[in-house]
Formats: sequence, structure tokens, C-alpha cells
Amino acid sequence: MNDFIYSYPTKVYFGNEATKKAFSSELKNMGNTVMLAYGCKSAKQNGVYNEIYDYLKDAGKEIVDFGGIMPNPTYKKVQEGAKLAREKQVDFILAVGGGLVIDCCKIISAQALCDKDIWEMEFKDHVFPSDFIPMGAIVTASGTGAEMNNGAVITNEDVNEKAGVWGAHVNFAILNPEYTMSLPEKQVISGAFDTLSHCMETYFGFPTEVNVSDEIAEVVMRNTIRNIRILKKDLYDKQARSELMWDSAMGENGILKIGKVTDFQAHQIEHQLGAYTDCNHGQGLSVIHPVLYRHIYGNSIDKFAGFASNVWQIPSEGKTQQELAEEGIEALADFIHEIGMPSTFTEMGIKDKTVLKKVADTCNLTAGCCKKLSREEILEILEECW
Ligand code: NZQ
Ligand code: ZN
Repeated sequence: MNDFIYSYPTKVYFGNEATKKAFSSELKNMGNTVMLAYGCKSAKQNGVYNEIYDYLKDAGKEIVDFGGIMPNPTYKKVQEGAKLAREKQVDFILAVGGGLVIDCCKIISAQALCDKDIWEMEFKDHVFPSDFIPMGAIVTASGTGAEMNNGAVITNEDVNEKAGVWGAHVNFAILNPEYTMSLPEKQVISGAFDTLSHCMETYFGFPTEVNVSDEIAEVVMRNTIRNIRILKKDLYDKQARSELMWDSAMGENGILKIGKVTDFQAHQIEHQLGAYTDCNHGQGLSVIHPVLYRHIYGNSIDKFAGFASNVWQIPSEGKTQQELAEEGIEALADFIHEIGMPSTFTEMGIKDKTVLKKVADTCNLTAGCCKKLSREEILEILEECW
């Protein structure tokens, strides 16, 4: 195995009683003034906002309301939140929502205590924030695993970039599967597919020989696939919702990444697609993954064959490793079709084909899980996604 250091700063409260348990031990650490941050409308509609508001009010906290965080959260929204946090001298930030709210708050938490512009500081000076307003996350949509890491995906409209910015780790996360019950099917399935994508982007990274992190990833992938299928039959199956919520956290809590160099090339392409089209994250990934893998699997045939056998459980008898590897990628493509996720950008409703070149020219190029792609190859992949 590669050398590694493992420690984790986030305490997780999981289950139906999670909120009660979390607030009874965490309220005392929040200070007096708490920013309550949320998205556009769901938190108020499904009652989670009110529940959290009441806990804070009953504890005598000063509440600073910060709503309207949008899908693909913008850098302008981060600056608005940071300004408010400074003005109101916020002691603690509570993010109520999915990846978009949690991500926006991670950077608000850093920007509020930093005089420099965080975007410039990170991307031009390569300096990263070290002071943060402490924060907690109450997860209402799982999939991104955003509550388990300190990366935030923010869209800077001025420069047309959607990029990963480093911010705060959350001190604690509340994972109550009940809170996801009001999510519409499209978001439930695209969130779960995002989890599968995180596992794959880690699994196909280096090293490729059999190792414990990848064997755990295989189990998490199988579990995610099984539970997505259950939800396609019954969207309100609580057991499946709760397993997917933990799968999502497992994808990003570092355990699958121990000793691994991850790839995340599909994510880098999708993020730029999001910057130009404001598309749904999980849907963009479902289109990109099979096409990307058809392009690169030849450089890592054994790993892709292992993916076929151990994740999709495709029998290997009488097949070459190459045939098995190809069947695994096609099993992924068939699964995407089976669960009603899009397989082309046109199915996603993207109309302007000129964005493809812009995405290819501007997305981050990773070291690649088994092949470092050129911009020309990325454009080819994007055109096949059309
Ligand atoms: O804005 P509201 O009204 O709250 O509606 C949201 C939003 O429209 C809705 N929603 C959330 N919880 C709900 C609900 N609707 C009904 N009932 C509920 N309980 O769902 C919509 C999607 O919002 P959100 O849930 O935050 O999206 P998701 O969790 O898919 O996050 C997507 C963002 O996370 C970034 C993505 O790029 C994207 O910007 N990512 C962050 C990552 C990270 N920090 O580690 C990793 C991921 O790969 C991803 O890139
Ligand atoms: Zn993702």
C-alpha cells in the first residue's frame, strides 16, 4: 500500500434521532450567533428549517437567516454570505441542504475570516485558508458526500469556471434519512449516481493492484447499485434511502481513498459543463462516464475486468480480460439506461453544441487514472456524449 496519514475531523450523527442527539451535545459549542443557511425552498417546505430554527431559538441563539443558495452555487453568493457573516459577527454556520448549500457555506466560513479574495488566493497564489467560522451540516439530499470533506465546488461566473475551492470541514454532520424523503426522484437517483461516480473515480486511480480500499469500494458500489434499483421500485423505501445516505458519506469520507491517488477526470469535465450549462451534476456524470471509460480502459484492462467481475458480477469463464472489461463498461451504460439517467447531452436538454469545445479547452486535466487525456481527446469524448 502507499503511505498515508488518516484522521477525520467530522463527527457524524446518523439516523432518525440524529438531530436530537446532535443538538443536545453541540449547541453549547456554537456560540451565540448562528447563521442558518439553506437553498431555495425545500428546507422551508419540508419542515427541516423550522425544526432547526426551533432548536436554536429555544437555546436562546441569535439566528442569522441566509437563504436562496442556488444549484451550482456562485462565488457572488459566497461573497454575500461572507459579508453577512462579518456584519453579524456570526459564531457558527449551520448548512441545511445538499451539496450546494454545504459547499457554499464551507467557503463563506473561510472568506468571512480572510481579507484576501479566496478565489485569487487559492488559484493564483496557491495559498489556502486556515481560519474558519466553525460549521455543521444538516444533510437533506445525499450523494455528493460534501459533508465529509473540505472541498467545495463553486461557480465563478466572472471567469466562467466551476472549480473545487478548499474551505472548512464541518465539525459535525446530521445524516437523518427522513430528511431526504421529500426529494424528487430525479434528484434522489442523480445524487446516488454521483456516489457511484465518486467510488469509480477513486477505484480506477492508482495503485491498480488489489488493495483493501478498492475492495471496500467494490462493496460500496454494489450496495449503491442495489439500493438505486430498490428505489426505482419504491422511491420511499427507508432502508434503501438510509443505506444510500451512508454510501454517499463513504464515497467522500476518505476511507476509499486511503493509499490511493484518485482520478476525478469525469468530474473535472462535468464541472466545466456545469459552468457553461448549469446542468445537474449527477446527470452530467451519467453521460460522461461510459464514454470516457470506453476511451481509456485499454490502458488498464485488468482493473476494468475486476470492475466487471466484482461490481457487476459478470461471469468471467470463457472470456478474455478485454472482453470482460468491455462488458463491465457496457453493464454501467445499461444500468444508466435502466435507472432513467441520461446517456447523451441532448437527452439532458443541452442545446448549444459550441459549449463542448469551451469545456474541452477549459476543464482541468488530471493525471488520469490510467491515461492522461489531451484536450483533443476530451473534445472527442464530449462529441461522443452528444
Ligand atoms: O434549493 P432547494 O429548494 O433546497 O432545492 C434543492 C435543489 O434544488 C433540492 N433539495 C435538497 N434537499 C431537498 C430538496 N428538495 C426536496 N427535498 C429535500 N430534502 O435538491 C436540489 C439539489 O440541491 P442539492 O441537494 O444541494 O444538490 P446536490 O446535493 O446534488 O449538490 C450538488 C452540488 O454539489 C457539488 C456539485 O458540483 C453541485 O454543485 N459537489 C460537491 C462535492 C463535494 N463538496 O464534495 C462533490 C460532488 O462531486 C459535487 O461536485
Ligand atoms: Zn460528484
